[in-house]
Amino acid sequence: MIRSLDGASILVTGGGSGLGEGMARYFASLGARVTITGRRADKVQAVAESIGPQACAVAGDVTDATDRAAMIAAAVAHGGGLQGLVNNAANMLRGPITELAEAAVLDILNTNVVAGMMLTGLAVPHLARDGGAVLFLGSVHTRRAYPGASTYAASKGAVEVLAKVLAAELGPQRIRVNCVIPGAVPTELNVRAGLYTDAEHIARLKTMLPDHPLGRIGTPGDIAEAAAYLLAADWVTGQSLVVDGGLSLGVSYK
Ligand SMILES: NC(=O)c1ccc[n+]([C@@H]2O[C@H](COP(=O)([O-])OP(=O)(O)OC[C@H]3O[C@@H](n4cnc5c(N)ncnc54)[C@H](OP(=O)(O)O)[C@@H]3O)[C@@H](O)[C@H]2O)c1
Repeated sequence: MIRSLDGASILVTGGGSGLGEGMARYFASLGARVTITGRRADKVQAVAESIGPQACAVAGDVTDATDRAAMIAAAVAHGGGLQGLVNNAANMLRGPITELAEAAVLDILNTNVVAGMMLTGLAVPHLARDGGAVLFLGSVHTRRAYPGASTYAASKGAVEVLAKVLAAELGPQRIRVNCVIPGAVPTELNVRAGLYTDAEHIARLKTMLPDHPLGRIGTPGDIAEAAAYLLAADWVTGQSLVVDGGLSLGVSYK
C-alpha cells in the first residue's frame, strides 16, 4: 500500500536549500505539514514562508543535542505528531587521505552520520504511534569511487548500512527505514565546502553528462519524488533506492 502523505507531519533536516528544500516543497504539495531545519535561520525561514502555513522553520544545528530535541518538538507541535523524519543535512569534505585533518573528518561523520542516528532515536516514540518512516540520504559516492572523497563516501556508506539495521530494529514498532541514493544534482553542497563557485560546480557537472545514460543531470524534484515514495510505501523497508539517471551503471558515452 502507498500511504497518502496528505496531512502527514514530516521533519526535513537541512531543508533550507538543495534537495532538502526540494523535498519539503514537494511533500507540502502533497499536503504534508513540513518542518525544516538548518543552521542559517534566514534560509529556513525564507523557505518555510514561501511554502506557506503548512511549513514551519526551526533554526538549529543537528550536531547539537539541545537543538535536535527542539527540532523534534517543533515538528510534533507543528504537525500534531510525527510520521516522517528525513535525515538530509550533510556536509562535504574533499582531500587526499594524507592531508585530512582528524577534526574535519570527525565533524563530517558527526553531521552526516551521528546526528541522524540521534535524531532517529528521538523520533522513534512519535513515529511508532502511526507507523512512520525514516529516510536517510545516501550518495552515488558509494557506487562510484571518486578520489579525494573518502570521508564523504564513508559517511554515506554508513547511513546506507544504518537504514538496513534500523529497519530490522524498528520494524516491530511498524517504523520503516530506507535510504535514497541521489546522483549528481546541482546544489550548494560543494560550494558551501569551498570547493567550487556555483559556476564552476555547474561546469563540472556538465563534464559528467557523458556518464549519464539518460543524458541529463538530476533535479531536486527527481529526488523528492523518490523520497516521497519511500516515506509512503507501506511494505518497503531497509532498502536503498538509487536515483541517478544511470550514473552508477559506470558507463561513459565520451
Ligand atoms: N547534490 C547532490 O548531488 C547530492 C548527491 C548525493 C547525495 N546528496 C545528499 O543530499 C543531501 C542534501 O544535500 P544538498 O546537495 O541538497 O546540499 P545542500 O544544499 O548543501 O544541503 C545541505 C543542507 O544541510 C544543512 N546542514 C549542514 N550541516 C548542518 C548542521 N550541522 N545542522 C543543520 N543543518 C545542516 C545545510 O544548511 P545550513 O548550512 O544552513 O546548516 C544545507 O541546507 C545531503 O545528505 C547530501 O549528502 C546530494
